[in-house]
Amino acid sequence: MSTASPSPQRFLTGITTTGTPHLGNFVGSIRPSVAASRLPGVQSFYFLADYHALIKCDDPARIQRSTLEIAASWLAAGLDPERVTFYRQSDVPEITEFTWLLTCVTGKGVLNRAHAYKAAVDKNQATGNDPDADVTAGLFMYPVLMGADILMFKAHKVPVGRDQIQHIEMARDMAQRFNHLYGEHLVLPEAVVEESVALLPGLDGRKMSKSYDNTIPLFTPRDQLRKLIAGILTDSRAPGEPKEVEGSALFQIYQAFASEPETAALRQAYADGISWGDAKQLLFERVEQEVAPMRERYHAMVNDPTHIEALLQAGAEKARAVATPLMRELRHAVGLRALGALPAAAAKSKAAKAAAPTFKQYREKDGRFYFKLLDADARLLLQSQGFESPRDAAMAISNLQKEGPAALAALPGQVALAQGITHIELDTALRFFAATHA
Ligand code: TRP
Repeated sequence: MSTASPSPQRFLTGITTTGTPHLGNFVGSIRPSVAASRLPGVQSFYFLADYHALIKCDDPARIQRSTLEIAASWLAAGLDPERVTFYRQSDVPEITEFTWLLTCVTGKGVLNRAHAYKAAVDKNQATGNDPDADVTAGLFMYPVLMGADILMFKAHKVPVGRDQIQHIEMARDMAQRFNHLYGEHLVLPEAVVEESVALLPGLDGRKMSKSYDNTIPLFTPRDQLRKLIAGILTDSRAPGEPKEVEGSALFQIYQAFASEPETAALRQAYADGISWGDAKQLLFERVEQEVAPMRERYHAMVNDPTHIEALLQAGAEKARAVATPLMRELRHAVGLRALGALPAAAAKSKAAKAAAPTFKQYREKDGRFYFKLLDADARLLLQSQGFESPRDAAMAISNLQKEGPAALAALPGQVALAQGITHIELDTALRFFAATHA
């Protein structure tokens, strides 16, 4: 019996394809994610969440353009599609199929409490409108689609901003409920909130965000970058007057790009009364130094969309190699099954209906005593070696029934997973006994 080896930690990140990446996206998401994807022992999934984009945007040209720009930005920033699985959500139709299965295990009341939906309702109520005015079912269902994104790839960790924690918790609840009803098929994900990542201020000092119209586009041309930086809000202190780093957007953006000694030098320059013009020039040079090589790669890629398309198709193939077998397993689990192999004699009880695996004990010509575990469709799940006595075989069976998968550890080399069966399928069958013997 090959005991389950610890699988690598799987990280998953989705990027909604509306808009053009700005420096805040780069510092807060792209740069740390690309760095994390290079760590050993992690498996990363990155996808362009274009189904999600449809919730916010009904302009087809913008969806397409944004998909291209975001893909090119991540690749230009060093995401290596050989190393990670980089795909477009809508190229994996299993995700929408899975969304329905999850929809059916998600309480409507839970979705009523989702932040994005609640914010829309609160706004309507504040203005005396119908609570659901202009709210699409897409916005309402968004956490379920996101749950499917995450659970489809059995992600362990999902790096997100604070505003997304609730969605990861919901995905976790969906997985738990699904597993409870249908057996252990799904991994419970966890949110990872990177505390150390800087929240970049925008031109006006508030958080850099498209909704405040205060952004610096990541790959804006050099001259434009200089102009935008020149427009960052500062106070009116004159050259020669000492300046505060506290609350200075300019300083914070510099810090997000500079090394520690460089940051310390600018801090000193502030104290020494550097002029705002000179400080802006320093910031421009520092950002330009980091962005220029990426900008060149970015433009080369944006001008060759067929190359990106080919990369995404290859990524979709990798993604579907995971999604297709899991979807097959999940369809079977919920009862979307071929009718050829009906479970023996329609079982009445709900528990018996769920899986109804059976142990079979028998003696072989070699005089030894064996057992095997079959699932409801009489598929072989687990095969034992020969035991000395029928009692030994029965004992092993009894332990497996009482303790479930945990009892496997006490049977090293004595039982083997059948060909083509996953550990999850075996564990689910074993848990069935533990649950019904309790
Ligand atoms: N909703 C996320 C956002 O707005 C994007 C997203 C979609 C996502 N599906 C995901 C993030 C799955 C992480 C995991 O930022």
